[in-house]
Amino acid sequence: MTIKAALLGFGTVGQGVYEILEEKQQDLQHLLGRPVEVVGILVNDMNKSRPVRTETLVTDRFEQILEQQPDVIFEATIGQEPGYSYIKQALNERIHVVTANKVMFAAHGEDILEVADFHDVGIGYEATTAAGTPIIGTLSHLLQINNITKVEAILNGTSNYILTAMQQDGKSFSEALQEAKDKGYAEADPANDIEGHDAFYKLMILSQLLHKKQPVWSDVPLKGISQISPEDLTEAAQKGERIRHVAALELINGELSAQVKPVALPASHGLHSIDGVDNAITVSGDLVGSVTLRGPGAGKRTTASAMVEDFVRILQSAPIYQLH
Ligand code: NDP
Ligand code: HSE
Repeated sequence: MTIKAALLGFGTVGQGVYEILEEKQQDLQHLLGRPVEVVGILVNDMNKSRPVRTETLVTDRFEQILEQQPDVIFEATIGQEPGYSYIKQALNERIHVVTANKVMFAAHGEDILEVADFHDVGIGYEATTAAGTPIIGTLSHLLQINNITKVEAILNGTSNYILTAMQQDGKSFSEALQEAKDKGYAEADPANDIEGHDAFYKLMILSQLLHKKQPVWSDVPLKGISQISPEDLTEAAQKGERIRHVAALELINGELSAQVKPVALPASHGLHSIDGVDNAITVSGDLVGSVTLRGPGAGKRTTASAMVEDFVRILQSAPIYQLH
């Protein structure tokens, strides 16, 4: 018997998951006791050619994916819908779900976690926030007893890549953005990156995880890097500062305060030296003190890495009878 996996979305991230499942077949079998087989891939455009095994079902109909009776679904589509509806349907059919879709999870994560819990099915969302850098797992499993009241983070790889390329390599904004698109870092609509929305969604996911609530979205000051000029960067550099796109969340007297905006950081600041596509998250816990996690924040393999790690964790703890 195989473990049957289905992919929703076969763009940068979906293809990364497919490739890792192929590449790590032996390790997965060793870890999970059974081979993993991709039984179906959901796409939007059936006219694109897909580099997959000839016997693999590629479809634009979700019902056909469900007919394959997958044990796990990897969701890497765009926007709240149809991802949210598909995930709920899958969980209701007791299929484990791993998602990278932060737009959807920021809005519906609470509900999805409840449905998964109700059916005793696994849900993984590590890839939604900081891609392969394991902040969700760290906060969920390794910093539970700490009271974490403050988060300060660089959460958008594309923005950090652009700022680094402009300030350190003298590239133009559009040149740097094009490179981020070519490398698979940018969102399908890169306005989400450069106007700050992507970092905002990730901050809301962290807020939900840490505090079981989110600030009122419209109350959060939100600004991206699209208006940052080479002159702004030069001016900051002359003062020994670097402009970085910072997402911050604090719980003060039970009230959440959040902001997402470019900030000129002095060399003494922990996020000053975060370069390229990296993300970094500093959390302050009452017991542990200040902890920073840093790592690649976007891209095919690092994002797929988080999804496949979630999959392994879920399958390792799933009773065997839960598999179809
Ligand atoms: P892409 O644009 O490369 O791929 C999106 C995929 O979703 C495509 O295969 C597309 O189909 C499919 N798709 C879109 N709409 C539908 C639909 N209605 N029904 C079925 N399939 C659909 O995006 P990415 O792979 O870069 O990103 C995927 C998700 O992962 C997004 O939610 C993104 O925010 C998130 N993410 C991305 C990261 C990255 O570094 N790229 C990092 C972390 C998260 P088709 O191929 O036919 O066009
Ligand atoms: N577009 C996102 C970024 C992908 O650049 O951070 C990772 O979530």
